[in-house]
Amino acid sequence: MSDDRDYLVKHSIPQVINDLVTALVKDRPPHAVPYMTEWFTKKAVFERPKVPLTPLIKKVCIVGGGNAAQAFANILPSHGVACNMWCGFGDEAERISAGINSQGGMKVHWSDGSVTLGKPDKISKDPGEVVPECNVLIMPLPSFAYPSVLTDLKPHLKPGMYIGITPGQGGFDWVARTVLGEELMKSVIFFAIMPMPLNCRITDFGKQVHVQVLKKKYRVGALPAAKTQECCDITASLFQAETTALPHLLTATMYPINAIIHPQRVFRICQPWRPGNYLPENPLFYEAMDEGSAGLMDAVNTELQMIAEKIKELSGVDLEIPHIKDFLGWVYEDDKPDLTSTKTFFATCSAYKGFRSPLKQVEGKGWVPDFENRYFTEDIPLGLCIYKGIADIVGEKTPAMDMVMYWAQAGMGKEYIVNGKLTGKDVASSNAPQRFGVTTLDQLLGK
Ligand SMILES: NC(=O)c1ccc[n+]([C@@H]2O[C@H](COP(=O)([O-])OP(=O)(O)OC[C@H]3O[C@@H](n4cnc5c(N)ncnc54)[C@H](O)[C@@H]3O)[C@@H](O)[C@H]2O)c1
Repeated sequence: MSDDRDYLVKHSIPQVINDLVTALVKDRPPHAVPYMTEWFTKKAVFERPKVPLTPLIKKVCIVGGGNAAQAFANILPSHGVACNMWCGFGDEAERISAGINSQGGMKVHWSDGSVTLGKPDKISKDPGEVVPECNVLIMPLPSFAYPSVLTDLKPHLKPGMYIGITPGQGGFDWVARTVLGEELMKSVIFFAIMPMPLNCRITDFGKQVHVQVLKKKYRVGALPAAKTQECCDITASLFQAETTALPHLLTATMYPINAIIHPQRVFRICQPWRPGNYLPENPLFYEAMDEGSAGLMDAVNTELQMIAEKIKELSGVDLEIPHIKDFLGWVYEDDKPDLTSTKTFFATCSAYKGFRSPLKQVEGKGWVPDFENRYFTEDIPLGLCIYKGIADIVGEKTPAMDMVMYWAQAGMGKEYIVNGKLTGKDVASSNAPQRFGVTTLDQLLGK
């Protein structure tokens, strides 16, 4: 390595790291070298953040211990964000702490083959140990977890805290109002980050996550809406990304994403199936996309846009609900998917490669729908039920959505729709607005 005093000025950070590593590994036993070089030289760890960290962030608390939370435990520190982690669920805090301590951090394996290591400052099962010193909470959680998580967080929330959810659906503000009460609710800032920043899976619990994609563009909605720009800045810092504002938090709740994709595609795949018979194969969910599935997605998406049109007509509030192809085409622009149609988009976007359908194999017989898969258990009660509940409030008909919901609820043994209205007994366990006493347009718009 050079003795030149201007060395650090003249050389790039990756070059300096590379030289340091070369010096460091020179006298090491050979078996130690590949791991060290792999670890030290991966660009994502040392690349200078492109988006400067906003001073709005003092410290972030990652809430949860699932796939995305464990990936965030690596990525946020790698982006220079100070963070803690609250894992209140089961023994996750213990297992994640043990994993991270055993190897000095959470490892992320990226789809390009690189590996990064990142470490939160503190991990705890007790929110009191990790939440109060943070001013931004980030919750990459399935929406069914919101009530219990908010209940545990309630005593630790402070005025002015930013509470971010991603993917930002599931009627978060309705749950929050019920759990936190109006006064506390108004003292904090909620924001929704759309879409979920990662496609990822834990490959070794507490130690390693495989990340397929870290998205580079987000839309962010906030409550109160006046804080949207601040929440865009926070999101841009956290994920080193481009952000644009959503007009309303209700836009995030209604955004066309999983509930537009999954139920319609599964419905179509399972059209030949009847209880007691079997499908011959488990098709690729996206690459084998057909016109029928894409057409049904288009129909349900159009119904969603018509609901938003009705809201605009009645209230003057334009929620700007897009078509899913246009939204995801924007998110994955760099990937250059074929945007000719919904079918070509899903069939060609590399982020969607390799996923099979939510079917269960019955040995020696074939495949049947897995009604316990989250494509049903999340996307019906926490997805289509929400769209349908809003449609009922503004008096909009949704025949395509109804058809899919009738089929799915029969398989799930649930009752959401009755006579074309969301009045079944299981609405009480959905996240439809009606469950939270939200039955008017003014309530939907938080007025
Ligand atoms: N992982 C992905 O690639 C991906 C991509 C797009 C969207 N999403 C969506 O993002 C959300 C989070 O995804 P994920 O894969 O990290 O989810 P996950 O299933 O891995 O997360 C589950 C975690 O949520 C918490 N949790 C679950 N039930 C709880 C309860 N009752 N009380 C408290 N905490 C509870 C626990 O920490 C648990 O580990 C989901 O809605 C998912 O559909 C995920």
